[in-house]
Amino acid sequence: MNIDGKAWRTIWLKPDLCSVGVIDQTLLPHQFTTRTLRSCDEAADAISTMVVRGAPLIGVTGAYGLMLALQADPSDAFLAAAFEQLNATRPTAINLRWALERVRAKVQPLPPAERAEAARLEAAAIADEDVAMCNSIGEHGLEILYQLVARRPGARLNVLTHCNAGWLATVDWGTALAPIYKAHRAGVNIHVWVDETRPRNQGASLTAYELGKEGVAHTVIVDNAGGHLMQQGQVDAVIVGTDRTTRRGDVCNKIGTYLKALAAHDNGVPFYVALPSSTIDWTLSDGVAEIPIETRSAQEVTHLQGRGADGAITSVQLSPDGSAGFNPAFDVTPARLVTGLITERGVAAATEAGLQELYGNK
Ligand code: MRU
Repeated sequence: MNIDGKAWRTIWLKPDLCSVGVIDQTLLPHQFTTRTLRSCDEAADAISTMVVRGAPLIGVTGAYGLMLALQADPSDAFLAAAFEQLNATRPTAINLRWALERVRAKVQPLPPAERAEAARLEAAAIADEDVAMCNSIGEHGLEILYQLVARRPGARLNVLTHCNAGWLATVDWGTALAPIYKAHRAGVNIHVWVDETRPRNQGASLTAYELGKEGVAHTVIVDNAGGHLMQQGQVDAVIVGTDRTTRRGDVCNKIGTYLKALAAHDNGVPFYVALPSSTIDWTLSDGVAEIPIETRSAQEVTHLQGRGADGAITSVQLSPDGSAGFNPAFDVTPARLVTGLITERGVAAATEAGLQELYGNK
């Protein structure tokens, strides 16, 4: 997608073929800076500190992290240690384990001398496939948006989204935002309500940044405003992404998603979840009981990062000294609250049968 007229991906192999470029998302929207990852440690650190984030992008970074590890030491022991190190960085997004397992399966049967190059090719394939999947999600989601437009011809289409499931969360296009970008480019009069998404504010900082750079009309709202806007008829649809979806269609996404789904259900607003199949955990059924929810630092709750009047990025404390904070990073929306799953193969009902119709019996 575009930043000031230049097309970017969120992650790329550098010309030396042994280091990886990423956009530093911790500084957006105030500073656009790239970083170079040269080792498995640096890749692991980039994932855990959220220099890169978003389930699909975490997966691709993990895959390149294994490449970086094997360039340093292609032994079985180092492969196993690097796999564990990277897999432990973020526990909820299943794309990470999926991508790591895919690279490991490719390289493990090979002689050590061939492993790093095989990992590079596999990581690049995962990245390219992610772009293709997100592009297809955009096309299938666009059909839904056209149907919504047809209900109220001439009126502005209002979509609410939570967190950041745009191109910054993937390699390109995004998941939830892909249909919105396609609609905007097709001339649909579309406007996005952007949940700020405390505590890390991926909505206010990243989604708003992306939409602005693509010229999509949007308004940032506090997380608590969505229910009110739905009651007022100001939301035609909610579209969010997901970090892990179970075989029966339960959806784990950024904390606060569940409350939006409840509000959407109460107000008859369609609630869609956009995802590539790399985000489906076919081994799990009951998302509430089975998906591990990452707990992050309480400091993300008690403090806030932003740009000060002097232009410097700074952190301020919100709560009193000594107040405890608790920071579960994700929640699970039960399938019964999901209108449909927008995948690269089409729109599925959020049921085991619905997913099987698209992907067969996994
Ligand atoms: O903690 P993050 O920023 O990595 O979480 C990402 C999300 O939860 C996004 O909302 C997204 O929907 C899932 S990734 C497309």
